[in-house]
Amino acid sequence: MNETLTDAERSKVDGRPDGEFYDRPRFVTHADDAFLDRLRALYDERIPPGARVLDAMSSWVSHLPDATYERVVGHGLNAAELRENDRLDEWFLRDLNADPTLPLDDASVDAVLCALSVQYLQYPARVFREFARVLADGGVVVVSFADRMFPTKAVRAWREASMDGRADLVRTYVDAARGFGDTETLRERPGSDPFAAVVARRRR
Ligand SMILES: C[S@@+](CC[C@H](N)C(=O)[O-])C[C@H]1O[C@@H](n2cnc3c(N)ncnc32)[C@H](O)[C@@H]1O
Repeated sequence: MNETLTDAERSKVDGRPDGEFYDRPRFVTHADDAFLDRLRALYDERIPPGARVLDAMSSWVSHLPDATYERVVGHGLNAAELRENDRLDEWFLRDLNADPTLPLDDASVDAVLCALSVQYLQYPARVFREFARVLADGGVVVVSFADRMFPTKAVRAWREASMDGRADLVRTYVDAARGFGDTETLRERPGSDPFAAVVARRRR
């Protein structure tokens, strides 16, 4: 499989299992309000009401608009955070760097969201293949990021890249998954945090 990152590129300053780092809940937001408002508006544009949604690498907030969805499944590393997330109908814990699979059926969701977190994936091609597998035909993946991160936990390739380079990296993850159509990259500055998102649609 095309892993997209070399061993050096996937290395982290803090090599402990990620579960240890995320052991205690953090009830904070990881970007400014203008960024989060822009993300909510993007979700509103791209996710149809009634959709089945997976919020991957989630926490106590999903940044979803007020629309009604059929089902929102959350995934993350901290149970206390996910329990507090009032947009989730159900959730599960999984360290995707230890096990990059998702316990969801093929073509069982219409949108996969990954907000402010993709920099922590060490085997992104495997995870994005799972995103492609669980997405129904025409479903959308939305990967958003700013320039903040927990630096000891982000992969080296991300730490050393510019914002343009990070968008390139995310596009290589989407391309490595195969099964997605063309990527669209959004780059804006709605507030003090730069806003970036890579969006792609599932194509069988
Ligand atoms: C900066 S927080 C962002 C959380 C949320 N998406 C948000 O927008 O507020 C990073 C998240 O990445 C997830 N994460 C980090 N490393 C992970 C790993 N190895 N496996 C699964 N999830 C991980 C955790 O759920 C953590 O809450």
